[in-house]
Amino acid sequence: MSKFTSDRLLLFGATGDLSSRMLLPSLCALDAEGLLNPEIQIIGTARSEMSDAEFRNFARQSLEKFLPADRRGSMATFLNRLTYQPLDATDLDGFKALAEKVGTPKEGLSIFLSTAPSLFEATIHGLQSSGLAGPNTRIGLEKPLGTDLASSKVINDAVAAAFPEDRIFRIDHYLGKETVQNLLALRFANIMFEPLWNAAHIEHVQITIAETVGLESRVAYYDDSGALRDMVQNHMLQLLALVAMEPPVSYDATAVRNEKVKVLHSLRKVQASETVTGQYRSGAIGGKAVPGYDDELGKDSNTETFVAIKAHVDNWRWHGVPFYLRTGKRLPRRTTEITIQFRDVPHSIFTGRGARTVPNRLVIGIQPEENVTLSLMAKVPGLDRDGVGLRSVPLAITMPDAFAGPQRRIAYERLLLDLIEGNQTLFVRRDEVEAQWDWIDAIRAVWEEQSQEPKPYTAGSWGPSAAIALAERDGVTWQE
Ligand code: BG6
Repeated sequence: MSKFTSDRLLLFGATGDLSSRMLLPSLCALDAEGLLNPEIQIIGTARSEMSDAEFRNFARQSLEKFLPADRRGSMATFLNRLTYQPLDATDLDGFKALAEKVGTPKEGLSIFLSTAPSLFEATIHGLQSSGLAGPNTRIGLEKPLGTDLASSKVINDAVAAAFPEDRIFRIDHYLGKETVQNLLALRFANIMFEPLWNAAHIEHVQITIAETVGLESRVAYYDDSGALRDMVQNHMLQLLALVAMEPPVSYDATAVRNEKVKVLHSLRKVQASETVTGQYRSGAIGGKAVPGYDDELGKDSNTETFVAIKAHVDNWRWHGVPFYLRTGKRLPRRTTEITIQFRDVPHSIFTGRGARTVPNRLVIGIQPEENVTLSLMAKVPGLDRDGVGLRSVPLAITMPDAFAGPQRRIAYERLLLDLIEGNQTLFVRRDEVEAQWDWIDAIRAVWEEQSQEPKPYTAGSWGPSAAIALAERDGVTWQE
């Protein structure tokens, strides 16, 4: 692993939405806390013509909009670190000027690439030819990294021609979320879950990533992508891998990623009857009317904005345990949640006394509420003369209450710092990405074979009724 703390950071796509909403605010917040190399210089690049002063102005506006005032520190110190160089990625000469602007780092350079997939190869080539891909450079890659396995391999090959895997940082911003990392703590820093964390004791798992937003301003990208490639290929499968993986031997990049990739390789090919796709029609969310997908897009489309999947992890631990996955836009509320449904007790001593046990359930709230709730059976107080009363009651931890002190951070703060310092644990390795695409491509092939079209659902509902039926056929109700 490359061990240096970068004193130069080169941001591609520096004038874009991600940069404005996440990257610049995260960097400023880290700087305000003294967590960046004190000598760091941040060079932005994008197609737009802009001077250093104009870029700083753009950054200032982003910070004022997206970073709370009490986290900005001395904005001037941060803004002074920024410079800008316009670049047309298809023009090799432009990279020379970029390399001059970057100058010679004392320790090393980190590059953050959020670029249209079509520009990937040209960009990597430009970095190589201008000497910006030397041994003291590491590169962070933002999605989308391809649209299927074949195109992702082309990108991975192009990057691998310039950088070894230990200097490639593929970003899945869900791994930067505190609550996602907490999954590892919950599973592997407590003794009580691991002995039960298998097919003998778990009946099924649910993962929901629900959003209330629609297309936002990403019309072209989203319509070519759809929910399966936009959310399941990356975030959903990373969550599934963290839930299902074997205990890694240590909390380091190789050990954790070795275990995740084993899960991804164990995913069974999904059948057509195990998926449901949907597309939202006009409706209302939080009492506000919202248009349908076609209206937002301005044309008819077959792109799915919702997908539900019954997945299987074919290994010893998870034999016969379905994983119900669903994600969609314009659902009733924003929530990311993992539900572990345990089996019922093997024999209830209370049956003869008129009481029924309800199987335990562990619900892990990832966002916006960060909480862990374990439902336990308890006795209803009383003399039990007409039978024993049992009821399921929650044992609940609200993370912000349990940890009132520590700062809640933007996921990218952690990821940018790890990139700058060279820690790959929370980044996705090539074999993981390719296993993810392999599974996703097979689903798309099944849809194509069956000419499966998305079913309409009303914005503000939980997706098409077929998604509810997908779980109910097995006697399972989605956690809501
Ligand atoms: C992105 C997707 O990767 O994740 C978006 O491209 C989605 O479509 C977003 O809205 C969700 O991220 P978060 O952090 O808001 O859950």
